[in-house]
Formats: sequence, C-alpha cells, structure tokens
Amino acid sequence: MTQITIRRPDDMHLHLRDGAMLQAVAPESARDFARAIIMPNLVPPVVTGAQALAYRDRILAAAPGFMPLMTLYLTETTDPADVAAAAASGLVKAVKLYPAGATTNSHGGVRDLDRVMPVLEKMAEIGLPLCTHGEVTTPEVDIFDREAVFIDTVLDPLRRRIPELRVVMEHITTEEGVAYAAQGGNLAATITTHHLIINRNHILVGGIKPHYYCLPVAKREKHRLALRRAATSGHPAYFLGTDSAPHVDALKEHACGCAGCFTATNTMPLLAHVFDEDGALDRLEAFTALNGAAFYGLTPNEDRLTLVKETTPVAFPPKIETGAGPVTVFDPGFAVHWRVL
Ligand code: NCD
Ligand code: ZN
Repeated sequence: MTQITIRRPDDMHLHLRDGAMLQAVAPESARDFARAIIMPNLVPPVVTGAQALAYRDRILAAAPGFMPLMTLYLTETTDPADVAAAAASGLVKAVKLYPAGATTNSHGGVRDLDRVMPVLEKMAEIGLPLCTHGEVTTPEVDIFDREAVFIDTVLDPLRRRIPELRVVMEHITTEEGVAYAAQGGNLAATITTHHLIINRNHILVGGIKPHYYCLPVAKREKHRLALRRAATSGHPAYFLGTDSAPHVDALKEHACGCAGCFTATNTMPLLAHVFDEDGALDRLEAFTALNGAAFYGLTPNEDRLTLVKETTPVAFPPKIETGAGPVTVFDPGFAVHWRVL
C-alpha cells in the first residue's frame, strides 16, 4: 500500500504550553489533527473551569479551527462542584491526576488520594474520565519500575474503590500497562508515538540523548514491542496520545534536562511508518481517529487525512523556531517515506 486515507486523527494527550511556545506549537498539531486533549500542567496549572475557559480561548487564537478538549489539573483542594459545572458546560473532557513530583510541573499534584475522593466520586457519577500519570514517586522505587508499581499500589486499588470511574492510563510504557489496560470497558490507555519507536538504549547507548528523555522514561525492548502489538491491534482500549511535550533546546540540552519529546510535527508520518512496518496500516485509523473518540463519547471526525509513501525519504524540519527559542523535532533515527498529502 502506498497511500492511505483515514478520518482526521485526534491527539488524546498533548502539551501546548502557553505564550510564545503555544503560538509556535499549536499550528504544528493543527496541521494534521482535528482535536486534542490538552494537558493542564502550565505554570500555574489549569485548576479551575474559569482557567480552562481562558486557556481554551488562547489556544483557539493560536490555532483557529483546531478543537482543544480541555482538562483540569487535579489538586487536593479541587472543588467537585467546579469540576461538575465545567464538565456539564461541555468545556472540560477529563481531569488529570499528577502524583506530586512525578513529572514536569507536577509539584502541585496529589500527595494523598484520600483527599481527592469527593472529586473522583463526583466524576464517577457524571462519567467524566480521570487521566492518570501512572508513576509512583516513592524514592525507593526504581524509575523503570514506577509504572508497574503504580498499577499495583495505586490504580488497581482505586478502581476497586470506585469501579464506575472512567480511567485513561496515560502514555503507557510497559507490558504491565498494556496487560492491565486490556480489560477495556471504562478503562483505556494512550500510547505515544515515541514509545513505539525508542527503547531505553536509544537514550543511553553511545552518549546520552536528551531529546529522547521523557517521562515515563522509555523501557526495555520487550516493552516497546508490547506497545507496538497493542497499538496496532485495533483493540478499542488503546489509542494515540502523542504526549508531544515541547521544551526549548536550552532546557533539554542541560545538566538537568527537562523531560519531553516533541512529536507534533511528524507524528502521523512516523505512525504510518510503524503501522506499515507491522503490516497494520488498516488499523491506523482505529488507533488515531476512532478508539479515542469512542472512549471520550465524541463523534469521529468527518474530515479525512491522506498519507502517501514516497520512494525517497521524506525530510522533516530538525527544529521549529518559537518565540521562546528553538525546539527539536523528534528524530526517529531511521528514514521515513510517509508524508501527509
Ligand atoms: C511532560 C511535560 O513536559 O509536560 N513531559 C514528558 O516527559 N512527558 C509531562 C508528562 O506528560 O509527563
Ligand atoms: Zn504528558
């Protein structure tokens, strides 16, 4: 197959930032994607419905025609009534749980889940999904084990406590995450583009590659292969959330570099490459345009996107310029022949 037309995709986990960065990165997503679940980890975070409304307007101004699906950043003082009102108005599509200290701008996140039970119970009642950054932050737990330990010690107990709660395991990186999400029903998982392409060796072998460092950190090859099988399976519990997370080069190429891979610019060609390689191009639409919409109760996009396979490799810009500084575009490390028509 050298050409494929699918419904226009949605990105169910995206960081757009704010200010000059937002202005530069929002059009990169809007080029190929119709809608995106927008992460709320700004500084300060998007905690209230009023903040989400103002942020949505800034996104719309930066990328007219693109539809941001807003989320709220869960804190121990989040008001269940504010969440319910923001959901009822159609503004907010999910609430994001960041365990405090787990990732970029998560210091205002949740330390004690007991303190957010009233919010989670309200969300279960109204059917509003909880998006989880699924890593424990316990210093004793090895960074490569943090996802599996989160599933056993936080996620599974939470789902037993509130079985009606709809949960998205964000950016799963392990075979344990794949296996747990396979239950489906009111549970789903997003998978990023980069975790289908790199394993931990790509970050560490032959010199440290800061542009491959993200959280959750890429794991062993067997985990990458489990993610590939899940993404290309067509199973409704798995869908795309790129977790495209721009940081300026000065903060990536740093003694204490920021976590995040910027994939908004070339995600769809990279996914076409991955699905083609695995003989699963016929499932690219399910992963990028159908499964996520179905989980969030959205109608799939009517508009279409066509990808073509060229005989010669396609070049992507190595960086995009932003008013905050250059941002490096994710380099898969192999030749890509697919491009968006
Ligand atoms: C994200 C960011 O930079 O906001 N970074 C990342 O490595 N994925 C935060 C996150 O999703 O963990
Ligand atoms: Zn993220």
